[in-house]
Amino acid sequence: MTPSAVKSVLVTGGAGYIGSHTVKALALAGYDVCVYDNLLAGHREAVERIARAVPDRRVTLIEGDILDRAWVLSALRESRAEAVFHFAALLSVGESVSDPAKYYGTNVIGGLTVLSAMAEAGVSRFVFSSTAATFGEPLVTAIDESHPQQPVNPYGETKLVIERALRNFDSAFGLRHVVFRYFNAAGADPDGLLGEDHTPEIHLIPRAILAVLTGEPLQIFGDDYATSDGTCIRDFVHVTDLAAAHVAGLRHLEAGQPSASYNLGMGAGVSVRDVVSAVERVTGRPVPHSVEPRRAGDPSRLVATSARARAELAWTPRYGDLDTIVSTALAWHRAHPQGYGSPE
Ligand SMILES: NC(=O)c1ccc[n+]([C@@H]2O[C@H](COP(=O)([O-])OP(=O)(O)OC[C@H]3O[C@@H](n4cnc5c(N)ncnc54)[C@H](O)[C@@H]3O)[C@@H](O)[C@H]2O)c1
Repeated sequence: MTPSAVKSVLVTGGAGYIGSHTVKALALAGYDVCVYDNLLAGHREAVERIARAVPDRRVTLIEGDILDRAWVLSALRESRAEAVFHFAALLSVGESVSDPAKYYGTNVIGGLTVLSAMAEAGVSRFVFSSTAATFGEPLVTAIDESHPQQPVNPYGETKLVIERALRNFDSAFGLRHVVFRYFNAAGADPDGLLGEDHTPEIHLIPRAILAVLTGEPLQIFGDDYATSDGTCIRDFVHVTDLAAAHVAGLRHLEAGQPSASYNLGMGAGVSVRDVVSAVERVTGRPVPHSVEPRRAGDPSRLVATSARARAELAWTPRYGDLDTIVSTALAWHRAHPQGYGSPE
């Protein structure tokens, strides 16, 4: 494919956690950004903050659902998007186990709706938020891109369906794509502009921090896994580093490179108890917690190797140290006790 520069990007789910950090990175890199989000879990305020912080770029919000094909098509046309970043999804593993139809609806039908609107609008570059959950139980210690994809929960299945569909859209319409499989996103914008604000909060690091700040105990799901301390092992990657990878992914597509998939993690296995210790170290206070039974659909260990992203995209994570991740998240939660609803 011939190289061609992109000026404007449509970002579905851009008012959410990883999406908003990426919107900021895109605007700082010189792109105009139209966020398309139904605000189910996203925040208008996040987009408005980015628009104020980067006034020389157009950063706008169109409120809409990815299942509404006509509205997606209209947003693509109105924004003159030449690329789409697709973050909009539901992402609770536990909820996907109890309510798979909801997950197939938003993640699969919603994803296909965006892709089909792109095909009609002639937009041919796509960056997709996939997940370590597409791999299922790992067969090796560090998961690279060639690892078999055998999800153990509906959330991972729905993301894998879209990964597979992308190959077909590439053959049928020349839709070039970059798939990023994040391991565990964490941390907050080091400038303090953006952070994680989910209700309910389902992610470990903010839950551990909120346990310290509010006294509401952290629930640890399972301490009888075959791991060093019995708790699950994950690979935490800073959200600002993920955002930088997305900008590099777009540049890869602008340079006319072929479609590709990348695992994004730090390659460091961190147990749930390691996270508790890091939060205690950084806050100087104990994390109140309880130990509960294992949750359905949780693999014991998920750790990435990101050698391909480092080599092909020159991706160089800057904030990957666990204490840095926890410190940036703590700064956000301390400054925003009511999330985006907090007074500035
Ligand atoms: N957070 C993680 O650790 C992690 C790990 C792997 C993959 N991912 C993927 O990254 C993406 C972003 O995750 P996040 O943590 O920022 O989640 P998030 O919930 O903060 O963001 C998702 C955004 O999508 C929007 N959205 C949801 N359904 C929509 C719909 N039907 N139409 C339009 N907008 C809709 C929400 O309002 C929200 O702003 C998701 O696709 C998720 O599967 C996240």
